[in-house]
This record gives sequence, structure tokens and C-alpha cells, in this order.
Amino acid sequence: MSQFLKNAWYVAALSTEIGRAPKAVRLLGEAVVLYRMQSGLPAALEDACPHRKLPLSMGRIKGDAIECGYHGLTFDCAGKCIDAATQTRIPPFAKVRAYPVQDKYGLLWIWMGDAALSETSPVIEIDNHGQPGWHITAGDQLQVNSNYLWLVDNLLDPSHVAWVHRGSFAGAGTDSTPLQIQADERGVVCSRWLLNQAPPPFYAPLVKFSGPADRLQHYEVRYPSLAINMGIYTPAGKGGPDMVDGPHTYRMVSYNFLTPIDEDHTHYFWLQHRNTDADDAALTERIAAGAKAAFEEDKIVLEAVHRGMKNRSTQTTGLLLDAAANRFRAGLATLIEAQAQP
Ligand code: FES
Ligand SMILES: [Fe+2]
Repeated sequence: MSQFLKNAWYVAALSTEIGRAPKAVRLLGEAVVLYRMQSGLPAALEDACPHRKLPLSMGRIKGDAIECGYHGLTFDCAGKCIDAATQTRIPPFAKVRAYPVQDKYGLLWIWMGDAALSETSPVIEIDNHGQPGWHITAGDQLQVNSNYLWLVDNLLDPSHVAWVHRGSFAGAGTDSTPLQIQADERGVVCSRWLLNQAPPPFYAPLVKFSGPADRLQHYEVRYPSLAINMGIYTPAGKGGPDMVDGPHTYRMVSYNFLTPIDEDHTHYFWLQHRNTDADDAALTERIAAGAKAAFEEDKIVLEAVHRGMKNRSTQTTGLLLDAAANRFRAGLATLIEAQAQP
């Protein structure tokens, strides 16, 4: 049984990383070559020539097709062999797998499962995208040498900021305030309101009011591994579950998209979406740098967790804060199992 959910859109690359030159990537344990056609539209093919399995990424682009660098078999963007210079006719079974791909939000999305199902399954929608006053960052990435599910756990765990992000996101109550969990067919949300406290160091210069704040930590992951991490800050007394946005309500949403490379490595992509200072480029840079610094802190911890759990020889202990992650893992396992059925 596959360990990954194949019938889903994953981020394969930042859109700007892919141009006319072929680029090799590894996704869900499979070798894929990405390139752009003359129109600028992306193409994604199995990165292995059917003759001797040389990666096609070692060949060259010819028009909209890619030519193998060993004996010249040439494949169009649908994976069909369209030229075989050494042959009297094109070998009838020579083909490579083609994957649906599309650009959205500055990211290149790929569908690794049954291509027919991709047509009825949209890429995740970013709420308020394109609305006046909102700004989206260009996005960035890290490779994390950890199984992707340790990253999913982390993105359903608002408590870790109290220890891992002491200088940025930690604040009063992040260590001990009880968590609320909601689950549905899309995924799991773990959240809590922290009332009447000073905004933490990362957010203090960003919010548009002074004095104490009510803060929402909203940690959501949608299947298979798309995280929506939202912080809301509003003047103390205005927050809580029935909050209505006011003129000083600050919203920052970090979209964190995890794509398994294989069982032990993960591509971590992200972008930030906020409802203030849409045209402030310097602020955007500061936010992007702050986010990257925080994710580097997560990377150090999660790589060590991966090694620790993989090599464990003594018992582990569960904590209350694991409940959201456990719920998500169970839901994802059910979906992976369902895709294995004929
Ligand atoms: S390995 Fe590609 S044509 Fe021979
Ligand atoms: Fe973190």
C-alpha cells in the first residue's frame, strides 16, 4: 500500500524555479522532470527514458518536447514518443508517464495520482486572495530531512511555539491554554483564543493598535498535507469565538504546503497572506525573513525528532497536545487505504 495520498494536488516547485531548462525533482518517491513549453505552460513527465531509464532531465528541450540525452527518443508533454532517430519507426510502447500540473499563487502544483481525478479536484483556495488591502508574499521553501507527518504534527501543534519559537511567536498562555479540535472531511483544526496579553515579538510591530490583545492561534491542516496557520490579533476585549473583524483586527495567514520527497525527506513550501500594509515592500521582506527564520527553528527540531523516533529503542509518551495530530493521521490513513482499493 502506498504511504502517500496520490490523488491530491501537491506543490512541486515555486513557479519561478521552472523555466525552459528541464529540472529534476523527487516527489512522493517518484522521479519527475519539470519544464516549461514555448507558451510558458508547465509540463511534468516521469524522469526516466523507457529505453535505459536515463533521466530525461539529462537530455534537452526541443520545442515543447524533451529529447533523451543517450539515443534521442523524444517525448511530447503528454509523454508520447514522437521521434526515434535510430529506428525505422517509433517503438509503439515507448512512452513516459505525464502528470497534470498547473501554476497557482506563484507555486507549481502537481497531481501524482489518477490524472482523470485531477479535473474535478481544485487546488486549495486562498480566502480573500485578490481582495483590496490584502497582500500575498512570493513564497519560499526549505528541504526538511524528516518524514512529512512529523511536519504535519508540528503544524497542528500551537503549543510548540512556547519552546521552539521563544523569540518570535511565544506569548503568555501558549504553553498551557487548552486546545479546541474540530475535524471534518477536509482535515483538522486545532485552535485557541489567548485573551488579554501582549502580542509576541514577531507580531508586536505588525498589529495596528497598542496595548494588550486577544490572540487566536488557528492551526489547520487539510488532507493530504496543506497547512493553514492563522494568527488574529484584536484589541483586548474584542476577541473570542464570536469575534467580528473591526478596524484594528490584524490577520496573518501562513500557508505551509508539505510535499513528501520520500519517506525521510520533505519539501516545505510556504507563503504569507495578510490584511495590512499591502504595498509595504520592506515590511513584506521582514515578514518573509521572520517566517523563514521560524521555519529554520522547526527544521532543526523536526529533523532531530525524525532521527529520534526512527531510531528509538525505549518507550514513547503521548501528550494531550497530540490529539489533533492523531486525529489527522487517522483520517489520512483512511484516505490512503481507500485509494488502495481496486
Ligand atoms: S536511454 Fe533514452 S534513448 Fe536510450
Ligand atoms: Fe513552528
